[in-house]
Amino acid sequence: MINEDAINDILRSQDNDDPEIDGSKRSFLWMGVGAIGAVYVGAIGYPVYKYLATPAERAASETAVNSATLDGADKLPVNSALMFKFGTKPAMLIRSADGNFVALNAVCTHLGCTVKYNPETVRIECACHGGVYDAKTGSNISGPPPKPLTKFNVEVQDGRVLVTRA
Ligand code: FES
Repeated sequence: MINEDAINDILRSQDNDDPEIDGSKRSFLWMGVGAIGAVYVGAIGYPVYKYLATPAERAASETAVNSATLDGADKLPVNSALMFKFGTKPAMLIRSADGNFVALNAVCTHLGCTVKYNPETVRIECACHGGVYDAKTGSNISGPPPKPLTKFNVEVQDGRVLVTRA
């Protein structure tokens, strides 16, 4: 059987009134709060920073990539397209019926939807609002897109298609 003095001793040892130990508990608690706060600031602040980045900063990060190499793309069937990433943006390599290649940015100039090549109409179409582009030049033909798609340079070398910024 446990006597009352032993229980009081245990309770007294847990209820420490030493100000030095209390201070270290407090500072440990504040370090934890600070660490959690830093995680929250990072989790919220980074997306906000990316959203608020100036157009010049965004353009700089997008123009950092100047080429893409597409292995085996020289075998792309005629009247078809291959989607690929040019840096962080979608792009497309189109092989026309005459066997020539055209590479274009695949981001619609209206509101930024990804466009697709339609082999039946031999045009590039945007499903979002019906924008239509010429598959050889990237020119905007109809619908809301205000500008043509950006065209890239294309070179075929040793079974690869090299796409570079014009
Ligand atoms: S985003 Fe392509 S037509 Fe509107």
